[in-house]
Amino acid sequence: MDLYEYQGRELFDRHGLPVLDGGVATTPAEAREIAERLGGRVVVKAQVKVGGRGKAGGVKLADGVDEAQARATDILGMDIKGHTVHKVMVTTTAAITEEYYFSYLLDRANRTFLCIASTAGGMEIEQVAHDAPEKVVKLPIDANKGVDEATAREIVTKAAFPAEVAEQIVEIAQGLWKAFVAEDATLVEVNPLAKVDGGKVLLLDAKVTLDANADFRHPDHAQWEDKSAVDPLEQAAKAKDLNYVKLDGQVGIIGNGAGLVMSTLDVVAYAGEEFGGVKPANFLDIGGGASAAVMANGLEIVLSDPAVKSVFVNVFGGITACDAVANGIVQALDLLKQRGETVDKPLVVRLDGNNAEEGRRILDSANNPLVERVDTMDGAAKRAAELAAAGV
Ligand SMILES: Nc1ncnc2c1ncn2[C@@H]1O[C@H](COP(=O)(O)OP(=O)(O)O)[C@@H](O)[C@H]1O
Ligand SMILES: [Mg+2]
Repeated sequence: MDLYEYQGRELFDRHGLPVLDGGVATTPAEAREIAERLGGRVVVKAQVKVGGRGKAGGVKLADGVDEAQARATDILGMDIKGHTVHKVMVTTTAAITEEYYFSYLLDRANRTFLCIASTAGGMEIEQVAHDAPEKVVKLPIDANKGVDEATAREIVTKAAFPAEVAEQIVEIAQGLWKAFVAEDATLVEVNPLAKVDGGKVLLLDAKVTLDANADFRHPDHAQWEDKSAVDPLEQAAKAKDLNYVKLDGQVGIIGNGAGLVMSTLDVVAYAGEEFGGVKPANFLDIGGGASAAVMANGLEIVLSDPAVKSVFVNVFGGITACDAVANGIVQALDLLKQRGETVDKPLVVRLDGNNAEEGRRILDSANNPLVERVDTMDGAAKRAAELAAAGV
């Protein structure tokens, strides 16, 4: 999950990192109130999950409460690279004398963590990285060792931070790493990390990505979720503990095992070409030991997608054998009926693997007119695509 700047600022603040006082507003009047509380000159900043807000006119100085309100009026509703601004952050103005860049991230390609630091930070950092890559230092961070004082000093030396800010950056580098680990982040980026009048170093921007796989360790992170931006089907699926991702096709997909579901998406997309470009409507992995209740939940989510015209249930029986899955499908359809759901979209079911014969027999004897059995993955994908095209 990517955080908004004001959320990242809150996270930094929580870990004792030097940030400026501020607040978040959804209306100009709220922005005015925050400016009143802060007093003096403030900065009004668009809160969108995209970089380059400054260049796009989404970061504006305001001298006093009237201007703060006016700038908030300008910025709220603005479109920045396709993102509409619904919130602004109002903070104290810093008298910046130097802008640095500092980040930690998970470097997946090299299977390590990485520190990127530069004394040439600010809004031109991408240009600097392109034109003068020697000004941007990259240092792999050993996950077991982390950033201790010695490592922090190494970063400061390699990036050639000026002597007068060295001690502060040694502290910030260690504190930021602690925050990165404690919050299970995959990215913390501070640009600018700024030296201000008087010599103090402050974190003036915050770009943070949290690892959703670690959500179970951080119930408090849920407060940062942007409910309005999440697909309602994905939200409903999450509430039912399902691994569901909404896509933009017409064939609903249910399978057991992430690998099988991934290849099912490919096979359906391929088969769909023949039928005018029919595509998979979702990813849904109901897992290895799926019960009838889980199958029912999965079917309910997939069928409630208005874009879905047919459903392909692709199961390879393993520890949970095909007969159990077949019973699950039959019971799931009954369950949905009992819940008052109308099930009127065709289902193509492919069962293979452990106890496939018995599973197929169970489906056949249930004799549900909506359920069609096809025994090969390619054949089933083709039939599901054909039915979806017919139903469009
Ligand atoms: N509190 C602040 N006081 C003064 N200037 C600021 C403040 N916050 C940001 N700026 C200036 O605005 C620029 C852009 O803001 P930033 O938060 O980095 O947004 P973005 O990276 O999306 O452009 C910064 O590089 C900095 O020069
Ligand atoms: Mg920035």
